[in-house]
Amino acid sequence: MTDTEKYLEENGYLYLPDFIDKDSCRLMAESMIEAVESGRGEKDPQCPMSYSFIDVFDSAHDEILPHLKKVSGKNLLKTFNYCRLYQPGETLERHTDRDSCEYSITLTLGFEGKPWPFFIEDKKGFEKEILASVGDVIFYKGIERPHWRNSYKEGKWQAQVFFHYVDAEGEYKNQPIIEMFRKEKNVFVEKT
Ligand SMILES: [Fe+2]
Repeated sequence: MTDTEKYLEENGYLYLPDFIDKDSCRLMAESMIEAVESGRGEKDPQCPMSYSFIDVFDSAHDEILPHLKKVSGKNLLKTFNYCRLYQPGETLERHTDRDSCEYSITLTLGFEGKPWPFFIEDKKGFEKEILASVGDVIFYKGIERPHWRNSYKEGKWQAQVFFHYVDAEGEYKNQPIIEMFRKEKNVFVEKT
């Protein structure tokens, strides 16, 4: 077992600073801002002040996959991706994720101001605070580890993308099919 595999298993999360090229992040953040400015973007119940999009970053979701397989030592399968343009005053309540988020990352794409702290309870029960800057990845076991963010006061906006995967040999291996079904039925993004 490699050091990163061991850390992820023992702690339930892994911080990977400078994991993604900053220019690619900037382009993704700009595309989200433009989409919101042109009146697109959903408002979901988890973060009703912010704007979200589902499966708009499929190629990035694919590109990062071999790197995450290497870091985790797991044969990961894509389920879905989601991104948000967070607005001031938003809170991400402490939660765990749905079954299709067994292995998840949150990647910071951009922000105006200072980075917004991310909190996660590790496998030993300790609350960890992570300040992820542009290009930094927090890789975590979404179903298992509670995570949250306190009220956003650090800046004017922050763009994050979430790439979700399951272990192809694990108990959630059928979740990619379930996510496809959800999208066909158009029930995944709940409009408010
Ligand atoms: Fe989550």
